[in-house]
Amino acid sequence: MSLDRRSFLQGLGAGAFAALAGCTTSAGARPAPVPAFGRVEPEAFWRSVRAQYRLRTDPIYLNTGGVGPIAQPVLDEVTSTTLRLQEHAEHEHEPSFSRSRATVAAFLGITPDELCFTRNATEGNSIIAAGLDLRPGDEVIFESHAHPGGSFPWGNQVKQRGIKVLVFEPDHDSAEGNLARIRELVSPRTKVIQVSHATCTTGLIFPAREIAEFARERDIWFHIDGAQTVGMIPVDLQAIGCDSYAFCGHKWLGGPHETGGLFIRRDRLDAVATTGTGAYSGEWPDFAEPIRLFAAASRHEYGTRNAAQVLGLAEAVRFQEHVGKERIAARGRELAEMLLAAFADIDGITILTPRPAAMRGSMTTIRHARAGGGQLSGYLAEKHGLRCRMVSEQGLEALRISTHLFNSPAECERIIAAVRASVRDL
Ligand SMILES: Cc1ncc(COP(=O)(O)O)c(C=O)c1O
Repeated sequence: MSLDRRSFLQGLGAGAFAALAGCTTSAGARPAPVPAFGRVEPEAFWRSVRAQYRLRTDPIYLNTGGVGPIAQPVLDEVTSTTLRLQEHAEHEHEPSFSRSRATVAAFLGITPDELCFTRNATEGNSIIAAGLDLRPGDEVIFESHAHPGGSFPWGNQVKQRGIKVLVFEPDHDSAEGNLARIRELVSPRTKVIQVSHATCTTGLIFPAREIAEFARERDIWFHIDGAQTVGMIPVDLQAIGCDSYAFCGHKWLGGPHETGGLFIRRDRLDAVATTGTGAYSGEWPDFAEPIRLFAAASRHEYGTRNAAQVLGLAEAVRFQEHVGKERIAARGRELAEMLLAAFADIDGITILTPRPAAMRGSMTTIRHARAGGGQLSGYLAEKHGLRCRMVSEQGLEALRISTHLFNSPAECERIIAAVRASVRDL
């Protein structure tokens, strides 16, 4: 090992050293690769998926809607790239970004020139909010359950450009109901409709394709905040037909922290003005002429970036493809359905997640008759070793449980028993 590399690793501390060296710390032996589905019985397959994560078994991790863990192949990609780049102090932006762009774009059913790499979903939402041509009094519609990463970018435009926001209460019983609530708010001043593809509160999935059609007929921009959906359910952006879609890598996709992307439909590219530009956004050979931005969504990228993270994001996509994105969605849903079925029979627990199957995925939100969300989540963590997330937004006082590919039916049994105990104890 060269001196430079050794001191670089020492500077990172022992835990990081172990990770970068590709050996394991808390998770024990290095996992065998996940076999092709069908080579072993299904639960053995899912155990081999689980073995890819360094997650401790205590507490049981049920907060992928907050941030998701990354699997061993992703960790390997990030750490080996980090080490390799340090050997010659290059950032390798160009080859890494183009290769990753092709992989991630194919995963979403779009072309590489429609994808910009961002640092998180909020950044993608912000590029759209700040970049569209909006005038004072122009109206933007979104749901009241929007995460701050989805609502603040518009609040900022209220402050900066005097636009108006109109919010609707999500209808948890009917997809058509949601379309009707949006329709009621549309006026000649409506310029944008935005929804969370899945809300961060109750996991409600909006009818994205139908809203896209509705918006297109009225020439209204349709932007989707997909922070909670990419990696949880298969997302085909071509089929949805929205104008733009922001997502992050660090939740359901299992990508490194601070990764994400923004899709802008190719024929809508010029409708989104750049709010930040620099190297990688385009060319400016003659200062007397305007900047020539690239004819691609990557015009919104600029400056030195971390290639290891973006290559890690592409590896996360490959890992999901290997496991099977439909299979991952079905697994998360099957576990969520186990919870829903049991919670429905517990007196003192109300299910807030929509009941129609098309309106939900792998998140389950419940409310306790006597305990608020914070109290319930604290109780589940302390007494039962469950890491869930309280839902305080909109005064819901609820608890959200995310079930993803590394969770198991046995863990769901523990959650059910703990929630049952909570109605006795709290
Ligand atoms: C619907 C929604 N939008 C945006 C965000 C913010 O995501 P990020 O931290 O990637 O910006 C979240 C995070 O929970 C979310 O649930």
